[in-house]
Amino acid sequence: MERVAIVGAQWGDEGKGKVVNYFSGNYEWIVRFSGGANAGHTIYYKGKKYVNHLLPSIIPEGDSKAFLGAGMVIDIEQLIKELEILEADFPGVSSKIYIDLEAFLVLPYHKEEDGILEELRKNPIGTTRKGIGPAYTDKVSREGFKIYHLFDEKLLRERLEEVMYLKKNIYKERFNFTSEEIFNYLMEQKRKLEKLNVKFTSAIDMAQVFRNTSVLFEGAQGVLLDLDFGTYPFVTSGATMAHGVSSVGFSTFELDEVLGVLKAYTTRVGEGPFPTEEFSEIGEKIRKFGNEFGATTGRPRRVGWLDLPALRYAKLRSGLTKFVITKADVLNGFDEIKVCVAYDVNGEIKEIPSSSYDFFVGKPVYETLKGWPDTNHVNFLKYMAFIEEKTGIEISHISYGPKTEEMCTKNDLIKNI
Ligand code: IMP
Repeated sequence: MERVAIVGAQWGDEGKGKVVNYFSGNYEWIVRFSGGANAGHTIYYKGKKYVNHLLPSIIPEGDSKAFLGAGMVIDIEQLIKELEILEADFPGVSSKIYIDLEAFLVLPYHKEEDGILEELRKNPIGTTRKGIGPAYTDKVSREGFKIYHLFDEKLLRERLEEVMYLKKNIYKERFNFTSEEIFNYLMEQKRKLEKLNVKFTSAIDMAQVFRNTSVLFEGAQGVLLDLDFGTYPFVTSGATMAHGVSSVGFSTFELDEVLGVLKAYTTRVGEGPFPTEEFSEIGEKIRKFGNEFGATTGRPRRVGWLDLPALRYAKLRSGLTKFVITKADVLNGFDEIKVCVAYDVNGEIKEIPSSSYDFFVGKPVYETLKGWPDTNHVNFLKYMAFIEEKTGIEISHISYGPKTEEMCTKNDLIKNI
């Protein structure tokens, strides 16, 4: 039974949603293993655009089912919004959605805390303000709430009393939520979810099912935003790499493939190091052609050239085995394309950053390649061959537009040239 993880190989926004959606028809289960509503996975289905922040990128009318794993932090109000949009077009789709009882909740005060912290920080991270950091912080400091708390009103009430007491004493007058208010809010959301016929289960209950069928694990954000190995502290608060599948009871050794989705250039939203960032009008052009504005926040994305040291780092950190390249069409028409092949780290030339620190101090060393008029041109093949040779990873597929069907294998592309 095939098990594949799809992760972002850069700083997120590589187009994972579309790639997952493209492959999802081949898998029984699409499993999201981390992150929350900070993600924005855009899919086009039957001519309509859907932006999912929490829902795995399943084909709404297909046979595959979706699982939201324990590594996630779930804003159920947002989840309900996404389900209601899908339900309006595809009645009954919610019955294909399963949620792990061990997943954590993002509560209204987490979003407020996210904003408060960003405003107090001398160097803001540029978070999405979706409450991700505070929800994961509460998980680690043991003040979090799990999905299962929704189903035990007595336990929920007791716990809310305890946690609200702590919060009030920490945040003082900045914290204006009462346990009664949060309790009522959660009961209302639970009722709505139950009405939608979503299933609540656990990776333990699903273990036999998952082990006997094909599973596609959908990552969120990108390797360089990983809490442990991204460009800390300018990272998200969860696991963005393939090891996140452990929260669903799998080891990375059980994966047949780890597909790294890479954009033909690099983008990032929020603050933090970005060695190949392009501030010139070329950067502006790429942002415009690539419509590089955040799917979650609408913020303009920072834009730069492809960064091979970063991809090599992503390969080693996350065990990438293949690449899918997206948005190559955005670079159509450029005479020359620059590619960063190494970093100059205080005089030492490094092809692979030794640690995430090198992203802060490394200066890009570039090579220049010839551009292409369209992706059916030999120069684009040379660009891909260059990436493959320099990273040691094969590119299996090329995405050349936002629609799910705008994707082909590299071999198909070669045949057409
Ligand atoms: P947070 O995840 O909202 O705490 O944001 C932390 C950092 O991760 C910020 O720089 C965000 O812009 C970035 N980030 C979070 N989610 C995504 C995503 O899905 N795509 C790209 N960047 C993201």
